[in-house]
Amino acid sequence: MTRFGSSEPVPGECPADVGCPPVTPSQLKIPTPVVDPATVPAQLVDLAKLSDSELSAGVTRLIFTDSDMAGRAYVRSLMERAGLVVREDAMGNIFGRWVGSQPDLPAVGSGSHIDAIPNSGAYDGTLGVLGPIEAIRALRRAGFKPKRSIEVLMFTSEEPTRFGISCVGSRAMAGKLDPKHLDSLADILVPDGGTFRQAALKAGYANTTADTEDMVKQCSLGEYGTYYDSFLELHIEQGPDLEDEELSIGIVTAIAAPAAIRCAFTGDGGHAGGQVMSRRNDALLAAATLTIAVEKLALDTGSNDTVATVGVLRVGPGAINSVPRTAEMEIDVRDVVGARRDEVVSKIISYGEQIAESRNVRWSHDIVNSDPPETCAPKVVSAVEAAAKRLNLGHKRMVSRAYHDSLFMAEVAPTGMLFIPCHEGYSHRPDEFASAEDIKNGIEALALALASLSLA
Ligand code: GLV
Ligand code: MN
Ligand code: MN
Repeated sequence: MTRFGSSEPVPGECPADVGCPPVTPSQLKIPTPVVDPATVPAQLVDLAKLSDSELSAGVTRLIFTDSDMAGRAYVRSLMERAGLVVREDAMGNIFGRWVGSQPDLPAVGSGSHIDAIPNSGAYDGTLGVLGPIEAIRALRRAGFKPKRSIEVLMFTSEEPTRFGISCVGSRAMAGKLDPKHLDSLADILVPDGGTFRQAALKAGYANTTADTEDMVKQCSLGEYGTYYDSFLELHIEQGPDLEDEELSIGIVTAIAAPAAIRCAFTGDGGHAGGQVMSRRNDALLAAATLTIAVEKLALDTGSNDTVATVGVLRVGPGAINSVPRTAEMEIDVRDVVGARRDEVVSKIISYGEQIAESRNVRWSHDIVNSDPPETCAPKVVSAVEAAAKRLNLGHKRMVSRAYHDSLFMAEVAPTGMLFIPCHEGYSHRPDEFASAEDIKNGIEALALALASLSLA
């Protein structure tokens, strides 16, 4: 089988427009799943309490911390209660399978992540893990029997916070994770800490593996379409369009692609009183100049689809009376047009070099990841569209500006995403919110779409 999503996506369009398969007649036989509006919102509140951020608002759940381990136990217990067959792989991806009547066929997958960046919200990712568990329960209650197995996934480390690289679990499953590069990435949680594999070992994973290469290999799913026949991720929109247009369901046609740069300026530091201005090589001033340039380079493309963010700036030694010796930066650049994104990335890097030279500081950089955008698969797009129509839910096709594990699942299976509205489009902040009604609608549409894909 060949990969579908290999071409550059066009914002707002789907190749489905030139040939979506029609709604499968089998969908008409699927009994209507009914989701209790209170169940998943209450579970999301329970999960949000498992957080590292006792001192601040919002949810913080970095991978392999105590709160992440407690969150994993919570997810496993919900999977078990739903009667799913649970397993975990060497990197801590969790799978819960509802075994279909033809268990040897490639399954239908649905999942997301529960790790959360510092001071973020309760819905990003978590909805896409708890939602399909509840979708399966609703389908069971309605008397539906899947032909293909339906498998719920919780991916390890979608967020890049701890090791700088996003989607670690799904990247490994798709065969797109370079073990040597993973080993080279520093742990920001434990200063001078070990590698990702060492953190995984401490968390009780990876213990059947000889080294990082073996760990990554053990998680790989293999050829396109052989493990999953299709994959569908439920997620909050993380933007305002659905709410503004009073729509219930967003049918994602393309997923924007991120690039991540970790870079550092290093000067010689010195005494903040004793060292006159003309004798300094201040690393922070170099980083500040680059930060302003990052904004300009994104704006200069003239497209709203190009976004660039300096989300991390660590200054050392970090004392008020010390001239900054080091300034480490993490820069996120995204676009739905990969070539345009790459041009911004290379301009940022050459500008960084120039700044280092003119300010007489040293400069190092690493492109931690630079992933291609993806187009969603027609059969998944049309399954979601048919589900939204059948439930009379207002819907539209749209692009995902955020990245998701689906970006990597699209490498190994026909993949799509289903968005629900979130308040004001807020995400990655404590006041992220999705209403019980929107959650119920999203899970019912997800259930119908998964059911129809399982019969295909
Ligand atoms: C996902 O968390 C993203 O940053 O898009
Ligand atoms: Mn996120
Ligand atoms: Mn997410």
